[in-house]
Amino acid sequence: MNLQAFIEAVTERGWLFNVDKPVSSVLELAAVAYALDGKPVLFNKVVGRKGEAGQTYDFRVLTGLAADRRHFALALGCAPDQILFRLAEAFRQPQPAPVVGEGPCQEVVERPGDLEALPFLKHWPDDAGPYATAAIVLVRDPDTGLNASFHRLLRLDAHRLAARLVERRGTDSAWRKVQGDLPVAICIGLPLHVLLAASMAPAPGVSELDIAHALQPTPLVPCLTSDLLVPAEAEFVLEGHLTHTLAAEGPFVDLTETIDIERQQPVIAIDCITHRRDAIYHALLPGQLEHKFLMGMPKEPTIYAAVNEVATCLNAHITPGGASWLHAVVQIDKQQPDDGARAIAAAFRGHGSLKHVVVVDKDIDLFNPAEVEWAIATRFQAGRGLHVFPNQPSSSLDPSATHTPGQKSRSDKMGLDATIPWDTPTGPSHPDHFQRVPLPRIDPGPYLS
Ligand SMILES: Cc1cc2nc3c(=O)[nH]c(=O)nc-3n(C[C@H](O)[C@H](O)[C@H](O)COP(=O)(O)O)c2cc1C
Repeated sequence: MNLQAFIEAVTERGWLFNVDKPVSSVLELAAVAYALDGKPVLFNKVVGRKGEAGQTYDFRVLTGLAADRRHFALALGCAPDQILFRLAEAFRQPQPAPVVGEGPCQEVVERPGDLEALPFLKHWPDDAGPYATAAIVLVRDPDTGLNASFHRLLRLDAHRLAARLVERRGTDSAWRKVQGDLPVAICIGLPLHVLLAASMAPAPGVSELDIAHALQPTPLVPCLTSDLLVPAEAEFVLEGHLTHTLAAEGPFVDLTETIDIERQQPVIAIDCITHRRDAIYHALLPGQLEHKFLMGMPKEPTIYAAVNEVATCLNAHITPGGASWLHAVVQIDKQQPDDGARAIAAAFRGHGSLKHVVVVDKDIDLFNPAEVEWAIATRFQAGRGLHVFPNQPSSSLDPSATHTPGQKSRSDKMGLDATIPWDTPTGPSHPDHFQRVPLPRIDPGPYLS
């Protein structure tokens, strides 16, 4: 389901908001999208091109594409509570994406192209400048092949970008391996299933685009200036080189809604831009629902898979309260006394940036924070169920972690085993003591005059 088809589908369902009033790409559009967070919004007249208030961009801007679990269900053709299992299956069995001769993403070709003709948004006053926030960067690692991942991109001028490369991830590793410039392709305006796949971290050698094709058909076309392959259904493709020249990137308000620091980051030089004739530019609001869903949701199947190696995992949820990145709840069907402890350690293996995890039993709704807290209150004892792992590799986005330039950030990690404690090898001697005894739910209607 490309962007055009997505817009049709949400229009049919009455979910789409259209904004026909001219809106500036400098702070204003982000503010309107913020006010409508969670909704798909199509901005039909965006101004501020080349920094001139009156100058209109040629392209409409869509926000909110990934801001609701229902949108993902629509894109994957499944029910919202089945998304994790579709992702887990695609992650387990990627399908080689077919290469086709041509695609709508190359209907218009511009060399070298002008980045200032694209509606990069300035989101927050303290941000370093206009950023692309829903861009997927494709590189070919000399050892492990094609890699696709999100990178925030600061527009420096009409032909150059500065990219935030988190250390030791796919793009950063490939960049560090090559002496000269690394060919790169940047896709903006991608189908939701491709965005989901690109925010997963499969084993080296597995292409995120093959995971995407296992989710929904994902035909690829060759780039015009390199041997890279890009999704044919992209709205825009920026072709160029990831150089070893560094430039200041940041500050930028990122996932945790806190200001991420300025760093020296690599410059990407663009020498060709292709796009659909009526291309739509996708912009996601950093730190808000789209960012949170796209960061957290792809990690649920990897936690689910890792915990299933050591216990019976029923479900996994990256919680919004933990910035959809740092906190998770794992639901297990407990078979052994120490299944909770094993599930905790496995959850941290399933998601490297995870900071805190709570393990609950199958009778606890892991999507309901009040129920999870109730399990902690009635089933957890710190002396028995608290597991602390000091000074672990962690997320660069956690302001409380230890950050050393050029090195992986480090943080203490903690797990709470909030499952019913087993005081016998085969189970709790009094499981009923831990059960919530609900009063019968009656209809109060007859009692209300
Ligand atoms: C909306 C969004 C923005 C992201 N921004 C960045 C970023 O600026 N830099 C970065 O290194 N990772 C960023 N990520 C995370 C990577 O894309 C993600 O961790 C990916 O799985 C890395 O995979 P890889 O190791 O296979 O490259 C972002 C993810 C999302 C969903």
